[in-house]
Amino acid sequence: MTQKDSSAQIHKNADLTPYNTLGISAKAASLINITSAEQLKELFETGLFEKEEPFILGGGSNILLKGDIAGTVLKISISGISLEVQTDERAELNVGAGVNWHSLVEWAVAHNFGGIENLALIPGTVGAAPIQNIGAYGVELKDVLKSVTFFDLKTGEESVLKQQHCRFGYRDSIFKHELKGKVIITGIRLNLTKPPHPIECSYRSLDEYLRKKKIATAGIKDVFDAVIAIRKSKLPDPSLIGNAGSFFKNPVIDAELFKDLSEKFPGIPGYKISEDKVKVPAGWLIEHAGWKGKRVGNVGTYENQALVLVNYGGASGEELWNHAKRIRNTVAKKFGIELVPEVNIVE
Ligand code: EPU
Repeated sequence: MTQKDSSAQIHKNADLTPYNTLGISAKAASLINITSAEQLKELFETGLFEKEEPFILGGGSNILLKGDIAGTVLKISISGISLEVQTDERAELNVGAGVNWHSLVEWAVAHNFGGIENLALIPGTVGAAPIQNIGAYGVELKDVLKSVTFFDLKTGEESVLKQQHCRFGYRDSIFKHELKGKVIITGIRLNLTKPPHPIECSYRSLDEYLRKKKIATAGIKDVFDAVIAIRKSKLPDPSLIGNAGSFFKNPVIDAELFKDLSEKFPGIPGYKISEDKVKVPAGWLIEHAGWKGKRVGNVGTYENQALVLVNYGGASGEELWNHAKRIRNTVAKKFGIELVPEVNIVE
């Protein structure tokens, strides 16, 4: 049933299957498509946000729906990419929260604006990007982000938060903590480079790929193409096989524990991130706990990247979550490391 109000359309008992890349079938009591900040203001004035905290949906590429959502889901579809400032060295863009992230990367590369080419093919929308500070192949969103614009659910006003106040960390930001459930991101401002671009290609698989292709001095288009090729070889396409990218974060452990593990498990990879902390690839731990490419019922881990949990079709949120717990338990038993989900688990 579809009911029309002054501007936003409200869909009752809406099917969320097409709105989450894991392809979990779940329902929302109401689903409202938001195409502008003004619509949020209108909803604010109806008193809706006083009654309930809405569930905010971007591209649905980083969530696990464990069941139906009893309240209102706002699907953020605010569009637009605009060039705000341009100098000889840089270009500043304002981008709507509903823009598909990869379309933005394509747009930037086509206009010869650099800084986000390493972040090609990350699924999801622009508005979701700051929440977990998306990152790949040596670059994180925080490196190019100037500010975030958000709608405050309590005051009904839009505010701008500068990069340095977003408390960005590894897959982390203020939007996962103090501002969680309190704001809706409506847009971001990016600070991109103009030629000659600084190029980041030190990440191992990216460097190896460029060497293999005999590309000695890579430009942003070379990096963009390389990242797409690497991702396609490792990560499943959600339109073909349900997934939410990396399911767990790469754990950061004490250097002492890493030393013990290296003796017990020679070959365990680790990246030193400070004097006493080491980041370990969760994919390696899951693979060496015996889970890579294994299927249990409708769910499993991807054959080319054990960190990606997949829905082969028809899985419920509960089934996928149970599989994640099995993996977490065996990794904890074998390595003494607790894996923490990277995706948002929606109860
Ligand atoms: N590895 C294995 N087995 C596996 C997978 C990985 O042994 O099945 C080990 C290998 O040693 C490999 C290392 O893990 O060299 C790193 O693997 P990869 O380059 O694929 O990166 P990752 O650490 O598994 C992270 C991000 C990805 C991002 C890539 C590239 C997290 C949780 N994930 O994965 O992000 O694309 O680096 O930068 O930090 C996402 O967040 O959804 C995501 C896909």
